[in-house]
Amino acid sequence: MNTFVSILVLSAYVTLVLGSNVRELLTPEFYDGLSEKLWGPLGEEKNVSTCIKPFTVKWSEEMIKDLRFRIKNRRAVTPPLEGIAFQYGFNTDNLDYWMDYWANHYNFTEREAYINKYPQFKTNIQGLNIHFIRVKPQVPKDVEVLPLLMLHGWPGSVLEFYEVIPIITEYCEQNGFAVEVIVPSLPGFGFSDGAVRPGLGTIEIATVLRNLMHRLGFKKFYVQGGDFGALTANQMVTLYPDEILGYHTNYPRTLGTKALITWATGSISPFFQNMVVDPALADKMYPLSKIFLGIMEDLGYMHIQATKPDTLGIGMSDSPMALFSWVMQTVSWASRRSNKLKHDGGLHELYSPESIIDNIMLYWADNKFTTAIRIYAESYNKRTFGTGIESIPTEVPTCTVHAKDELSYMPPSMLQLKFTNLLSSLSLDDYGHFFAWEAPEVFTKLVINALVEIRAYHANKNVCHDEL
Ligand SMILES: *[C@@H]1O[C@H](CO)[C@@H](O)[C@H](O)[C@H]1NC(C)=O
Ligand SMILES: *[C@@H]1O[C@H](CO)[C@@H](O)[C@H](O)[C@H]1NC(C)=O
Repeated sequence: MNTFVSILVLSAYVTLVLGSNVRELLTPEFYDGLSEKLWGPLGEEKNVSTCIKPFTVKWSEEMIKDLRFRIKNRRAVTPPLEGIAFQYGFNTDNLDYWMDYWANHYNFTEREAYINKYPQFKTNIQGLNIHFIRVKPQVPKDVEVLPLLMLHGWPGSVLEFYEVIPIITEYCEQNGFAVEVIVPSLPGFGFSDGAVRPGLGTIEIATVLRNLMHRLGFKKFYVQGGDFGALTANQMVTLYPDEILGYHTNYPRTLGTKALITWATGSISPFFQNMVVDPALADKMYPLSKIFLGIMEDLGYMHIQATKPDTLGIGMSDSPMALFSWVMQTVSWASRRSNKLKHDGGLHELYSPESIIDNIMLYWADNKFTTAIRIYAESYNKRTFGTGIESIPTEVPTCTVHAKDELSYMPPSMLQLKFTNLLSSLSLDDYGHFFAWEAPEVFTKLVINALVEIRAYHANKNVCHDEL
């Protein structure tokens, strides 16, 4: 079984990646075209303003009334099977609680004010109005300020970073620097426009967000990301290694050919396995059959979102209850694997009910579920993998952290093949996929530590150059 699965994974990969036009797309023309490609409606592009407009969220009475009406008039749900928690998906026993909370206890006025607590803006990049938060630290003029682009994923939003922002922008003198954060809604998410034509995957989003940073005057900057934020940042550090000063990710991942072959090699025998991964962490990667079956059991949502996002989006855009269940099933599972066995999905243990609904509101209010999940279809496809970009290494200094319940584990032996300057690669024995949301203080500390390491790396590099 083990060997069989290895062969299966390998051959699927070889077909998908090696069989395509490796690197043909990543020509200089590809880069140039990429940066100017328009994703919004055509016709108005010559006249699009490059100004940066302040933005505040304003939920209309009409939207809230309609939402409450839909919640109130929902149909009765099918009860779960006897003895079942979340194994079949969201446990419907909990839905009345959540729907009642959303319609009758969630204070829209208060939560709208919470979402508006930081300066927010919109600016048009490549035809799309991109929403972002920008918070500057309060520091004396002579303090060095590091610009940090922070990228959320699915099914999250800029709100994942809301409790991180005040901590990370607080100046701590012993670090020798302060941090300014730029937190955009990915295109199609939250308050950012979605594309009107196909092709806006992680490679293309990387150029949009790099152009956003240029618009804000940052020619060089640091980047942090998890989930799709990390997949997008991976492309940024590959496409623009001279502009990205450093990279921190809590979703360390590479699907480069050599990395995958390394993974498969580890399954041949214990000898090879020890070469690939620290024995204490080996059960996060092997046996491959267990990992593969885990994927089959829990990643169905990914396949449907990567292939038929629009059909799924019809129901999610029409029913607050369906949207809530679909999103929170994933949040539950991705936070802790053991949540599947909990009747309430373990949601109350990690997140406040307000923060759960806040995040759902960013999909409901502007009807963004469909445009958001199209990121799967636009990124997990032959076009993207066919560029061979996953196999292109980058020298951008990189620090990674792996939470205990993160979706997959990749050891330094694999990550180094992509991130040739892997400065640190931590593995924690706590926390889950939504690290920043769940544990903002720990998360912030690790990001700051990474920035310290990266700055030390640059300082040493410069010293060496001087001596030469
Ligand atoms: C450009 O925008 C301005 C102001 O919105 C408008 O008056 C003008 O007609 C537009 N021009 C074109 C070519 O669309
Ligand atoms: C909602 O919050 C606002 C602002 O804090 C407050 O004035 C209002 O009374 C609250 N509404 C309810 C129903 O509690």
